[in-house]
Amino acid sequence: MSGQNPVFIPGPTNIPDPIRHAMAVQTMDHRAPDFATTLRPVLADLKRLFRTETAEIITFPSSGTGGWEAAVTNTLSPGDKVLVARYGMFSHRWIDLCQRHFLDVEVIECEWGTGAPADLFAERLAADTDHQIKAVLVTHNETATGVLSDIAAVRAALDGCDHPAMLYVDCVSSLASMDFRMDEWGVDLAISGSQKGLMLAAGMAIVAVSQKAMKATETATSPRCYFDFRDMLRANAAAGYPYTPPLQLIFGLRKSLEMLFDEGLDNVFGRHHRLAEGVRRAVAAWGLELVAKSPELYSDSVTAIYVPEGFNADALVNHAYDAYGVSFGVGLGEMAGRAFRIGHLGALTDVMVLSGLATIEMAMKDLDYPITLGSGVAAAQEHFRATARAAMSNAA
Ligand SMILES: Cc1ncc(COP(=O)(O)O)c(C=O)c1O
Repeated sequence: MSGQNPVFIPGPTNIPDPIRHAMAVQTMDHRAPDFATTLRPVLADLKRLFRTETAEIITFPSSGTGGWEAAVTNTLSPGDKVLVARYGMFSHRWIDLCQRHFLDVEVIECEWGTGAPADLFAERLAADTDHQIKAVLVTHNETATGVLSDIAAVRAALDGCDHPAMLYVDCVSSLASMDFRMDEWGVDLAISGSQKGLMLAAGMAIVAVSQKAMKATETATSPRCYFDFRDMLRANAAAGYPYTPPLQLIFGLRKSLEMLFDEGLDNVFGRHHRLAEGVRRAVAAWGLELVAKSPELYSDSVTAIYVPEGFNADALVNHAYDAYGVSFGVGLGEMAGRAFRIGHLGALTDVMVLSGLATIEMAMKDLDYPITLGSGVAAAQEHFRATARAAMSNAA
């Protein structure tokens, strides 16, 4: 019966029944006209989701990592300099990918639990008077630490010294859970995936490409084939794919977008904020510490929590799964053993979040954590009770 339990990993997320049903379609010819009528509105709605009027939307059969690779290989050449900060496992992996593509990666090392250092970016960009830096890369929501970075501040750092570098943003675990504004923030390339806020199965990288980034594809010399933006756009213009499309995922995506816009994007973000705040109040009631260093960095899609000295976070996550059949996120990289994560993004309600908090409390108590059983649940309940009426009227 544990298949009935929600997951509290920060992606892949729980797939709502309407989306699972939408994906249960029989194979059809992707060159038939029905495919075109499915694909076109999906691409148009994705533009609305990224909040862009002018970017091209590209969907690759791949996970989010393929989106990183597509971004880098389509627009940059070996030896090109990129500026990036490392403050968690996902910013680290993106750096690694850039290095393996022979980019000249200038890394700013930051303490994990902090976010993109707009002030340090501003210093480096101002010093780069001959404009060697071709792109600044930012992980919007660092899923390993539960930290949200300020993209508008990074854009201001670029604009402050009139630097022409492009701005690439990983929004894999923020898109469709927290506010994302491609055009307003001057993002040149935004990379996301299907299995987080979009509530779908893994298997699709979704990339939004500004016209400036499209222009860069003409001069970039990094080898690319499967992920070539131009091949995909040409095929999409004829409502097709340059290869076999992930048909069932596209049907699922259509339903996912319909559900998000029916709820209203601002209501979706409000729901995530409310759920995240309930989790943070539970953490405070347990007397535990968040990995995110300060409130303006708090993520509304995932919370990373330090375990007390002398406890092992991996053992806690394993015990919650073994004893109660519920999955939470382990600590990654520097956080391994030191922190666990509660994912609260995608298709989730306050009732579901309470079940996750109750479960991890039981697991902590079983392992003799110094917490009071029920304290975190009660703190979250108080928050959910206090905000229930507003949440109901927003969703109506
Ligand atoms: C912020 C972030 N970026 C990139 C990735 C990599 O995506 P994928 O595992 O879909 O390749 C993840 C995965 O969790 C992520 O959270």
